[in-house]
Formats: sequence, structure tokens, C-alpha cells
Amino acid sequence: MNMKKQAVRMLLALAGLTASAVVLAQANAPASAATTAAVSGQGTEYTEQGADTCLGCHDDEGDTYSASAIFKGKHAHRGDKRAPFGAGGLQCEACHGPGARHAAKGSKKALTINSFKADSFLPVEQRNQACLGCHEGQARSAWHGAAHDRGKVACTDCHKMHVERDPVRVKATEPGVCYTCHAKQRADFQKTSSHPVRTGSMACSDCHNAHGSSSPAMLVKATVNQTCFSCHADKRGPVLWEHAPVAEDCSLCHTAHGSVRTALLTKSPPLLCQQCHSPAGHPSVARSGASLPGGGGGGSIFLVAGSCSNCHTQVHGSNHPSGSKLMR
Ligand code: HEC
Ligand code: HEC
Ligand code: HEC
Ligand code: HEC
Ligand code: HEC
Ligand code: HEC
Ligand code: HEC
Ligand code: HEC
Ligand code: HEC
Ligand code: HEC
Repeated sequence: MNMKKQAVRMLLALAGLTASAVVLAQANAPASAATTAAVSGQGTEYTEQGADTCLGCHDDEGDTYSASAIFKGKHAHRGDKRAPFGAGGLQCEACHGPGARHAAKGSKKALTINSFKADSFLPVEQRNQACLGCHEGQARSAWHGAAHDRGKVACTDCHKMHVERDPVRVKATEPGVCYTCHAKQRADFQKTSSHPVRTGSMACSDCHNAHGSSSPAMLVKATVNQTCFSCHADKRGPVLWEHAPVAEDCSLCHTAHGSVRTALLTKSPPLLCQQCHSPAGHPSVARSGASLPGGGGGGSIFLVAGSCSNCHTQVHGSNHPSGSKLMR
């Protein structure tokens, strides 16, 4: 793609138009057509020297922000035609938009360049489109309409470009990025029982696709259970004696993030179990209860014996020929 076509594509991308047919039709039109598509405020001209112009001020020596860390990442790959610094690429301006006007004045007050910051003159959809112009599809195919898009979250609320390693893409530092907005989850993962996110051996993206998915809560798999099975395959079954709620939804008993109870439970037994099972008329306890400490009436034993799972140990289902009551 030649420079002019790419310039037009960028302008259209900033204006929120992505249909490739439009891009191709416009690419052959006079430059003025592209100019009218430009966002008001931002300069419409690209610099002639590209990055060289920008680096005149934004290099390691200058007193302005040094942009050079970008050269350590994949965006700077010269051999990759799709990348900003690939042959014919718009370099810095592939992301920041046409910058001739900014470069001439060198001032951010003029609001002439896409800074990707919250105070940018560009609304979040257009800032995102500057990235999606190259990154639509695949992992981001569900971006549009998913919670982060609806919540007006910017790609650059999570991603940093001018760093050697993008913290959101490193397991140990990813949660910290998420917590800037999701404070409740930070508290959950501090609880005594929690998935090992605090230690850095798991991250939010093991269960969630931050770019959106068609599942509830943007889970990486179609359902809660399938998400859990990707690591807890032993709970998938099939088992001889199934416990109905386990096959239905793990979150009937577990919270995924953190709990003050053991084993990430939403409630402790017997309360957990009694949400569905009535304590009245528990057959075995009524019969054998007298021999147990505190014995007497069936109901009291039932509670003294405490956790139902002391007897019903196979709460996820049993494969034992006589495990129908989930006891072995
Ligand atoms: C003549 C010097 C000069 C040139 C050339 C220049 N800039 Fe700047 N740029 C500045 C100054 C000064 C600032 C304000 C820095 C500050 O206040 O921290 C700035 C700020 C920025 C910002 C942040 C804007 C904001 O709102 O925070 C971006 C992004 C930027 N420049 C990108 C570029 C790009 C891309 C190019 C090349 C197309 C470029 N600059 C060329 C001097 C220059
Ligand atoms: C001109 C096209 C282009 C633009 C604009 C662009 N990218 Fe990229 N990006 C690429 C290419 C090409 C790669 C390398 C892909 C690969 O190797 O698979 C890449 C890689 C990435 C990666 C992975 C980096 C890595 O080291 O693996 C992230 C994250 C990313 N881009 C985010 C963004 C964000 C956020 C924006 C907007 C601020 C953006 N990109 C704008 C073309 C672009
Ligand atoms: C809520 C935080 C968040 C937002 C917002 C976000 N990302 Fe990401 N992105 C991540 C995380 C976490 C990863 C690494 C794990 C993964 O691939 O799912 C990632 C990985 C990537 C990658 C590299 C892996 C790949 O799939 O090629 C690219 C490219 C990327 N994001 C582009 C974007 C673009 C473009 C946007 C805006 C439309 C965006 N991201 C918005 C969190 C985010
Ligand atoms: C892949 C997209 C991309 C490319 C290419 C790119 N930038 Fe940026 N730039 C960003 C994003 C996103 C930010 C916001 C801060 C961040 O992510 O690190 C930014 C921030 C900046 C800032 C402001 C930093 C601040 O905090 O005040 C300057 C200046 C800047 N870039 C200059 C450049 C220059 C010069 C080049 C070319 C050498 C360039 N950028 C190439 C995406 C890009
Ligand atoms: C800039 C703020 C921000 C950041 C950073 C952020 N989120 Fe969000 N997140 C939101 C907003 C806003 C919503 C929508 C809230 C709502 O609908 O109540 C949301 C919703 C969600 C949801 C619920 C989705 C649904 O369909 O109900 C999940 C899951 C989520 N975010 C995960 C993450 C993960 C994982 C990260 C880090 C990789 C992250 N978020 C980073 C702002 C953010
Ligand atoms: C072990 C898998 C797992 C991990 C790890 C995980 N989540 Fe979740 N998350 C879930 C499940 C499951 C739900 C609830 C989905 C449902 O029931 O609809 C959820 C729900 C959410 C929601 C929606 C609101 C809520 O609490 O129900 C947000 C926001 C969220 N997670 C953010 C995060 C963040 C941020 C991280 C990382 C710090 C993270 N999650 C790590 C599995 C996980
Ligand atoms: C990416 C892998 C992964 C996924 C996905 C996953 N887990 Fe885990 N889970 C773990 C690891 C690792 C541990 C900690 C094991 C340990 O400490 O020995 C764990 C521990 C647990 C525990 C025991 C916690 C305790 O304090 O004893 C429960 C319960 C649990 N997971 C339920 C779930 C549920 C429910 C889901 C689905 C929402 C799920 N897990 C998804 C990896 C995963
Ligand atoms: C009917 C309630 C219930 C449901 C539904 C349930 N669990 Fe559990 N789970 C428990 C109880 C109770 C414990 C604690 C067992 C104990 O104390 O030994 C537990 C413990 C665990 C543990 C840690 C100990 C172990 O056995 O490895 C994991 C992991 C686990 N559950 C995963 C899951 C997954 C995955 C699902 C969904 C497929 C699920 N659970 C559904 C009640 C449930
Ligand atoms: C969300 C509701 C729910 C929760 C919570 C729940 N169960 Fe169940 N349980 C069921 C259903 C439904 C059945 C199947 C009943 C049937 O087939 O008649 C069942 C079956 C059983 C059976 C086998 C009964 C039989 O007649 O074979 C036992 C034993 C059992 N549950 C024990 C427990 C224990 C112990 C707990 C707590 C750790 C628990 N349940 C939590 C819904 C639940
Ligand atoms: C002292 C051991 C013990 C404790 C504690 C216990 N159970 Fe049982 N439970 C049994 C035995 C033994 C049976 C099997 C009776 C039979 O085969 O007829 C049984 C049967 C059941 C059944 C099947 C009922 C039916 O009609 O066939 C359910 C449901 C059940 N228990 C739930 C619970 C719940 C919920 C708790 C905790 C509130 C609990 N149990 C605590 C020993 C126990």
C-alpha cells in the first residue's frame, strides 16, 4: 500500500470508517476528500520526514518525552509490512495521526495530536479505532458491544506502547492494571481462599478475555463450567453418581475470585447445602444419630455432625458403585 492510500486509511479510521470498500474508493480520490474526513482540530497533514521529525524533539536527549522505547517492541519491526515502522508505514503517525501541525509548533496546547490520553480531544471510540484499524479481528472480534467497549474503556487504558514490556501482558503485573478500575476484585483476591493471582502464577486473562467474548462476564470459554474445566478437568466427569448442581454451574457453590471460607465456597456447609436440601427428615441421621456425640433428635445430630461433607465427602459426584449418596 502506498503512502497516500495509507494516509487516507488513517484519516478514515480516525473518522470511524473502516469498510475496506470505502477505503479503496477514497484512496483514489483527490487529497481534499481525505482532508474533509479528518477530525476537526487535528492537523490533516502528515510530516514529510515521519519519525525523524518527531524524534527531533522526542528523543532520549531532548527535554520532551522520549518516545524511543517503542523501538524495542514489535511495532517497530521494519520487516513487518503491517507494522507502523514497516516499509511504507506511517511510523509514529500511524498511531498518533497526522502530526505536521503539531511538529511545527511542538506544543500540546494546540491539541493537534492524538495523545491517547483521557483529556485528548478525540473521543474514546476514535482513539480505539486508531488501534483497531490494524487490530480488528481474531482476539478482538468481540470487542464491539462487549462490556469494555460499552463502558468506554480505551485500548490504552490497559496497553502501554512506549515501554519495553507492556505490564498488562505480563502475568504478574496484569492484575494491577485491572485493579485500577476493578477495586472489588482486588479485595476479593486478598481473601484467605482465592485463586493464586496474588502470587503471580495466575492472571485475570486465564479466565477472562479483556477484549470481550460472547460468554457471560467475558469468560474465555462459553460457560463458567467450561472455563473451570480448563484447569480442573477432574471435575468434568462423567461420573456414575452425578451431583446435579456441579454439572450445572460451579458458581452455585464457589466464587471464582476469593472467599473468606475454605475452598472458595459462597457459604459454609451446612448452610451451603441447606439452600437446596431440607434438613428435615434426613433419613440416616434419624436412625444412627443416637450413637453420635450430642445425639438425640435427628435434627440436632444433623447439625452437630457439622459439615454435611464430613459424611457426603464426594460432593462433586462419585464413581463408587455404592456412592449414590455421594458418600464414597
Ligand atoms: C518541535 C518539537 C516537537 C516536534 C517536532 C514534535 N513534538 Fe510532540 N511534543 C512537543 C512538546 C514540547 C510537547 C509537550 C510536552 C510536554 O508538555 O510534556 C509534545 C507533546 C507530544 C505528545 C503528547 C501530547 C499530550 O497531549 O500530552 C505527543 C503524543 C506527541 N508530542 C507526539 C509527537 C509526534 C508523533 C511527533 C511527530 C509527528 C511530534 N510529537 C513532533 C514537541 C515536539
Ligand atoms: C499500522 C498498524 C498498527 C497500528 C496502528 C497499531 N498496531 Fe499494534 N501491532 C501491529 C503489528 C503488525 C503487530 C505485531 C503483530 C504480530 O507480531 O503478530 C502489533 C502488535 C501489538 C501488540 C503485541 C505486542 C507484542 O510485543 O507482541 C499489542 C499489545 C498492540 N499491537 C497493541 C496496539 C495498540 C493498543 C494500538 C493503538 C494505540 C496499536 N497496537 C496500533 C500493528 C499496528
Ligand atoms: C481491559 C484491558 C484491555 C483492554 C481495554 C484492551 N486490551 Fe488488549 N490485551 C489485554 C491483555 C490482558 C492482553 C494479554 C492477554 C490476552 O491476549 O488476552 C492483551 C493482548 C493484546 C494484544 C496481543 C495479543 C493478540 O491478541 O494479538 C493485542 C494486539 C491487543 N491486546 C490489542 C488491543 C486493542 C487494539 C485494544 C482496543 C480495542 C485492546 N487491546 C484493549 C488487555 C486489554
Ligand atoms: C503503536 C502505536 C504508537 C506508535 C507507533 C507511537 N506511539 Fe507514541 N504513544 C502511543 C500511545 C498509546 C501513547 C500513550 C502512552 C503509552 O501508551 O505509553 C503514546 C504516547 C506518546 C507521547 C506522550 C507521552 C506522555 O506521556 O506525555 C509522545 C510524545 C509520543 N507517544 C511520541 C511518539 C513518537 C515520537 C513516535 C514515533 C517514534 C510514537 N509516539 C509512536 C502509541 C504509539
Ligand atoms: C479503565 C477502566 C478499566 C480497566 C483498566 C479494566 N476494566 Fe474491566 N470493566 C470496566 C468497565 C467500565 C466495565 C463495565 C462495568 C459494568 O458494566 O458495570 C468493565 C467490566 C468488566 C467485566 C465484566 C464483563 C461483563 O460482561 O459483565 C470483566 C470480567 C472485566 N471488566 C475484566 C477486566 C480485566 C480482566 C481487566 C484487566 C485486564 C479489566 N477489566 C480492566 C473498566 C475497566
Ligand atoms: C478462575 C477464573 C477467574 C479469574 C482468575 C478471574 N475471574 Fe473474574 N470472573 C470469573 C467468573 C466465573 C465470573 C462470574 C461469571 C458469572 O457468574 O456470570 C467473574 C466475574 C467477574 C467480573 C464481573 C463482576 C463480578 O464480580 O461478577 C469482573 C469485573 C471480573 N470477574 C474481573 C476480574 C479481574 C479484574 C480478575 C483478575 C484480578 C479476575 N476477574 C480473575 C472468573 C475469574
Ligand atoms: C487457569 C487455571 C484455573 C482455572 C481456569 C480455574 N482454576 Fe481453580 N484453581 C487453580 C489453581 C492453580 C488453584 C490452586 C491450587 C492449589 O493451591 O493447590 C485452584 C484452586 C481452586 C479451588 C480451591 C481453592 C482453595 O482455597 O482450596 C477451587 C474451589 C477452585 N479452584 C474452583 C475453580 C472454579 C469454580 C473455577 C471456574 C470458575 C476455576 N477454579 C478455574 C487453577 C484454575
Ligand atoms: C454443591 C456445591 C458444589 C458445587 C456445585 C461445586 N463444588 Fe467444588 N467444592 C464444594 C465443596 C463443599 C468443597 C470443599 C470440599 C472439602 O471440604 O473437601 C469443594 C471443593 C472444590 C475444590 C478443591 C478441592 C478439590 O476437590 O480439588 C475444587 C478445585 C472445586 N471444588 C472445583 C469445583 C468445580 C470446578 C466445580 C464445577 C464443575 C465445582 N467445584 C462445583 C462444593 C461444590
Ligand atoms: C444448588 C442446589 C444444591 C446445593 C447447593 C447442594 N445440592 Fe445436593 N443435590 C441437589 C440436587 C438438585 C440433587 C439431586 C436430587 C435428586 O436427584 O433428587 C442433589 C443431590 C444430592 C445428594 C444425593 C441425593 C440422593 O438421593 O441420591 C446428596 C447426598 C447431596 N445432594 C448432598 C449435598 C451436600 C452435602 C451439599 C453441600 C455440600 C449439597 N448437596 C448442596 C442440589 C443441591
Ligand atoms: C453423620 C453423617 C451425615 C451427615 C453429617 C449428613 N448426612 Fe446426609 N446422609 C447420610 C446418610 C448415611 C445418608 C443415606 C441414607 C440412606 O441411604 O437412606 C444420607 C442421605 C442424604 C440425602 C439423600 C436423602 C434421601 O432422601 O435419600 C441427602 C440429600 C443428604 N443426605 C443431604 C445432607 C445434607 C445437606 C447434610 C448437611 C446439612 C447432610 N446430609 C449431613 C449421612 C449424613
